[in-house]
Amino acid sequence: MDFAQELIACLKGSRRVGVLTGAGISAESGLPTFRGANGLWDEKTIRAFATPGGFAKDPKDAWEWYEHRRGEAAKAGPNPGHLALARWEEWLDRQSGWLEILTQNIDGLHQRAGSKRVTELHGSGWFLRCTRCGRRREERTHPLPVRPPRCPECGGLERPNVVFFQENLPEEALDNAARVARECDLFVTVGTSGVVQPAASFVLGASGNGAATLEVNLDPTPLSPHVTWALHGPSGKILPELVALVSGP
Ligand code: OAD
Repeated sequence: MDFAQELIACLKGSRRVGVLTGAGISAESGLPTFRGANGLWDEKTIRAFATPGGFAKDPKDAWEWYEHRRGEAAKAGPNPGHLALARWEEWLDRQSGWLEILTQNIDGLHQRAGSKRVTELHGSGWFLRCTRCGRRREERTHPLPVRPPRCPECGGLERPNVVFFQENLPEEALDNAARVARECDLFVTVGTSGVVQPAASFVLGASGNGAATLEVNLDPTPLSPHVTWALHGPSGKILPELVALVSGP
């Protein structure tokens, strides 16, 4: 069998599929990625808006930045890449299999596309957490009427329920990710630069446990040499093609 035939056979034969997604899958929905030209991150932005110290120093300024991102995500819709993953999950459900998404994104677009099994490794822009009492609440209103928002229970300052630099990932999310990497037949990474740990290590964990691995990304990444197959191009084009091969158009 050649490269393409082996990939097609693997896609068709896999019943337990893990998928790690990053900012690149939402790029075709019009949302910016973190690194590269026009990326969100530079030293100053990270320090001011994505570290516990930066947020504590000027919460109002940090909230303006998150509100801008929440507004962009609210305006955006799932693209064919998100929709293809939801369709694949539905198809695998019918075959008594599963597909579980581990996403580094906080935009909620997988859920809006219809995906059911989604673990948000870096939290969600649609949940707030009180810095005083720790209470979490869902808040989809945009713009927020009061900025920075205050906890309805104790009046404490609320922060976005996302993971900042220097913070650990939620334990439950890490446990889920480890289980997916342990139990899947196929692990797919989509639109992630593969430089942020521990998310990037899941693909290596899956491969160590005997799963086949596939990368779908616009460009090669540090993960490319370590996966079974690497496909380079826009995920909004590649994923629908792959899922059509598995489940029919
Ligand atoms: P990055 O911005 O680091 O990488 C995005 C990747 O998507 C790049 O490798 C691009 O080549 C690729 N890409 C862009 N457009 C694409 C498209 N249309 N189709 C396929 N791929 C495309 O974003 P992440 O890897 O998600 O963490 O970054 C990981 C984490 O770093 C983020 O969750 C964030 C950041 O610090 C936190 O904020 C905690």
